[in-house]
Amino acid sequence: MTTLVQTRAALAAALAEGAAAGRSRAVVMTMGALHAGHLSLVRLASEHADEVVATVFVNPLQFGPGEDLDSYPRDLDGDVALLTAAGADLVFAPEVAEMYDGEPVVTVSAGSIGTILEGASRPGHLDGVLTVVLKLLHLTSPNVAVFGEKDAQQLMAVRQMVADLDVPVQIVGAPIVRDEDGLALSSRNAYLSAAERAAALALPAAIAAGTATAGRGGTARGVVDAARDRLSASSGLLVDYVALVDPRDATDVPADHRGPALLAIAARAGATRLIDNAMVDIAPEEER
Ligand code: PAF
Repeated sequence: MTTLVQTRAALAAALAEGAAAGRSRAVVMTMGALHAGHLSLVRLASEHADEVVATVFVNPLQFGPGEDLDSYPRDLDGDVALLTAAGADLVFAPEVAEMYDGEPVVTVSAGSIGTILEGASRPGHLDGVLTVVLKLLHLTSPNVAVFGEKDAQQLMAVRQMVADLDVPVQIVGAPIVRDEDGLALSSRNAYLSAAERAAALALPAAIAAGTATAGRGGTARGVVDAARDRLSASSGLLVDYVALVDPRDATDVPADHRGPALLAIAARAGATRLIDNAMVDIAPEEER
C-alpha cells in the first residue's frame, strides 16, 4: 500500500516507522509525468533497499527563463497510481512552498560540470538540480538514491556532489529505457508532434552511428563526426551539441583517446529539447 505525503512533517512521521523497524531505504526523485523509465528506477531501487520512497516535485530552481516550468505536465493522481503499481512504499509530493521558504539564499554549485554541455545550454540548471537533490536527500535520508543514466551529466554532478560534500548515500545509475523505435523515454516526448517525433529518431540513430564508428576503431573525432552527421541529416532538428567526454566530469576526451567515453548529444525538435547518450568504447590501436 503506497502512502502519499505532502508535508515535511508527514514525511518524517512516515519515515520514522520504517527506520524504527530497521528497514533500509532507497529514494527515486522525479518531477512527475511518469513513464516506464521512471518506473524502472523504482524497480531497481527496490532491489537495493527494503523500502522505496519516490519524490514528485517540479523544481522551479532548475528551470531557466523561457523554459517550460509552467507548462511542465503535472498529474499527481496518475503518478501515484503508477508508483503504487511499480512498488513504491511512500510518495513525497510537496508544494513549492513546502520545499522553498522563498528564494533560497544558499544553493549548491555544480562547479565546472555545471558550465559545459547541458550547463552551457541551460545556465544554472544543474545548480538547481543539485540544490533540490541535496534537500531531498536530507529530507528522506536514504541509504541509496537511484538516478537515470539518460540525464548523464546530472548523474555525474550528483555523484560529484555526494563525493565532495561527504553525503552519506550510495548513488546508483539506471540504464536508459527506450521506446520500440529507439527514442529514449522522456516526459518531454509528450510535447512532440508526429513530424517532430519522426525527426527525433535521429538522436538514437546518431548514438548508433557514433557507437558503430567506435566499434570499428574510429578516432574520437570520427565518433563525434559520425554522430553529428547523422543528426544534421535530419532537417527537422537543430543540433545543440555532440560531444565525446570523460564520464566523470563531462570534459572532452583528447583526440587520441582510446577506451570508454560518453557520447552525449542534444538537439531541438521544434520547441522541445531532447538529449541522449551512450558509453562507447574506442578500441586500442593494436586491435584495429
Ligand atoms: O531528473 C529529474 O527528474 C530531476 O532533475 C530531479 C532529479 C528529480 C531533480 O528535480
